[in-house]
Amino acid sequence: MTEMLGQLDGIRRAALDELAQIGELEGLESWRVRYLGKKSRLTGILRSLTDLPLEERRPVGSRANRVKASLQSDFLERKRLLEERHLELSLAHKSLDVTLPGRPIPRGRLHPVTQTLEEICDIFKNMGFQVLEGPEVEWDYYNFEALNIPQDHPARDMFATLWIDSGRSGGARLLRTHTSPMQIRIMETTCPPIRAIVPGRTYRYEATDATHESMFYQVEGFAVDKGVTLADLKGTLFEFCSRLFGRERRVRFRCDYFPFVEPGVEVAIECLSCSGAGCRLCGHSGWIEILGAGMVHPDILRRGDINPEVYTGFAFGLGVERIPMLRYGIDDIRLFYGNDLRFLEQF
Ligand code: DAH
Repeated sequence: MTEMLGQLDGIRRAALDELAQIGELEGLESWRVRYLGKKSRLTGILRSLTDLPLEERRPVGSRANRVKASLQSDFLERKRLLEERHLELSLAHKSLDVTLPGRPIPRGRLHPVTQTLEEICDIFKNMGFQVLEGPEVEWDYYNFEALNIPQDHPARDMFATLWIDSGRSGGARLLRTHTSPMQIRIMETTCPPIRAIVPGRTYRYEATDATHESMFYQVEGFAVDKGVTLADLKGTLFEFCSRLFGRERRVRFRCDYFPFVEPGVEVAIECLSCSGAGCRLCGHSGWIEILGAGMVHPDILRRGDINPEVYTGFAFGLGVERIPMLRYGIDDIRLFYGNDLRFLEQF
């Protein structure tokens, strides 16, 4: 009998030792099966009580039942403790410390060329121009022919053209080399008075380098009405330049040649880097050319079904990348389209 009682004490001790070591809820169940389950030694002893002589049955039985009851309550106590700890841990994990600094939200921004385009459009919108867009894949007719640049005209050399096909039906197609074809398209669909600007991509078949890209942006301007004169062109472009580059910056008009205007002019601003003294950026001239312009050629008006005896107009075309390049001292046009975030994040 003493042997049986010793066994029961041994079971209790071993069970308590093990129970104390269990640190996770998951470990509890296998302990319960081992010490209190149907196949446990304790259950075995309780079952075999009937085999014992009568005088041994009581003391062994009562000891075994006490061991069982105490292990059961120890088990429940341990379970409660572990559950409590588990809850605390998960609360600590989920809780929010409102005093911590917030995580920065990554914010996108507009491309420097887009920002410039928006600025240009805003200035002209304020002066009563509407913003229109045109196709980048264009007919030879609109890009050249209708703009007084026929097949063998030397002015075609000014435009290294990316041809799309040689045109079996309806003539040849190309990627527009400038936004000027929209002058014709606008006249085909609109009656004067016309005041429009056309921002958009243009393409040239060009070896790329620091100042040349095969794709770049232009903004075309086009105004047709009764009594429009060169003074209106000058006034509009002066105002544009001073809004974009500052009132104090001087603006220069000189004669130039473009087949679709007569007379044609070239507009330059005082160099932003040396303010006219002469430096490497402006080729030591003190001036930087920013756009071409002129009075719309009567041929062009006629092609748009507008009577040049009644109406006159002006047109201009400017390159967009040039502007942020001058402003921020960017010395390579290719940076705009290289998708390098280290460059783009600066704007
Ligand atoms: N289309 C010309 C170019 O890409 C720029 C230009 C010059 C546009 C004179 C005009 C203009 O409207 O009047 O070189």
